[in-house]
Amino acid sequence: MPAKTRVALGIDIGGSGIKGAPVDLTTGTLLAPRLKLPTPAESTPEAVAALVDQIADSFADDLPKNAPIGVTIPGVVQHGIVRTAANIDKSWIDCPGEDVFSQALGRRCLLVNDADAAGVAEARYGAAKDQSGLVILTTLGTGIGVALLYAGRLIPNAELGHLEIDGRDAETRAASSIKEREQLSWAKWAGRLQRYYSTLENLLWPDLFVVGGGVSRKSEKFLPLLTLRTPIVAAALQNEAGIIGAAALAAD
Ligand code: BGC
Repeated sequence: MPAKTRVALGIDIGGSGIKGAPVDLTTGTLLAPRLKLPTPAESTPEAVAALVDQIADSFADDLPKNAPIGVTIPGVVQHGIVRTAANIDKSWIDCPGEDVFSQALGRRCLLVNDADAAGVAEARYGAAKDQSGLVILTTLGTGIGVALLYAGRLIPNAELGHLEIDGRDAETRAASSIKEREQLSWAKWAGRLQRYYSTLENLLWPDLFVVGGGVSRKSEKFLPLLTLRTPIVAAALQNEAGIIGAAALAAD
């Protein structure tokens, strides 16, 4: 059997930026500073694919020619097809995203949900390493992404950020973009997170919550305000988890 590739490129497509970097898969660390380009206002598959290609090109000298490439998208991905688009251009729905990126890149890549990629990265290299039970990773950002991992194995496309709570889509109440938009205090926002995480723990009885997304850098401002039976910790890889997980999954 050929030795497993230990270097891959990860590209993470978010609501505000598209970020990429080469990843050392032995350590789960970036081999070069990441490149971040703003997500185009009209985030159509063609516009996004052109930027993904630009990011890949910029790292051509840092990677072997045939290094695997993993790309994330903030939507459900089934067999390379994007099925939902809550916070990106609606033309992504039913788009064969994996083929679109592979064509733009000139070689096959892997397409995966952004939260799933972050969950895999935290399970392999970060805050959920060596967990034998159920881990729920949530990314708090433009929306709420959720990854379910049982004994390190991903159950993909959980979409529990859209859990209906009090008649509302949870991410429209508790995402960190909503904290910013409504200028909520940490305490007020934590009240919404409390409702969200206690609903999740009463339905799924996880062993651990891991909280990712950019706001996890400030976890000391809100995690101590939550009262849950489940331990809850900040992501170790923070905003790089999507890049690292996409690279790791592409190399599998
Ligand atoms: C999408 C998910 C995504 C999450 C975080 C949600 O609106 O439905 O697929 O993982 O946002 O980006």
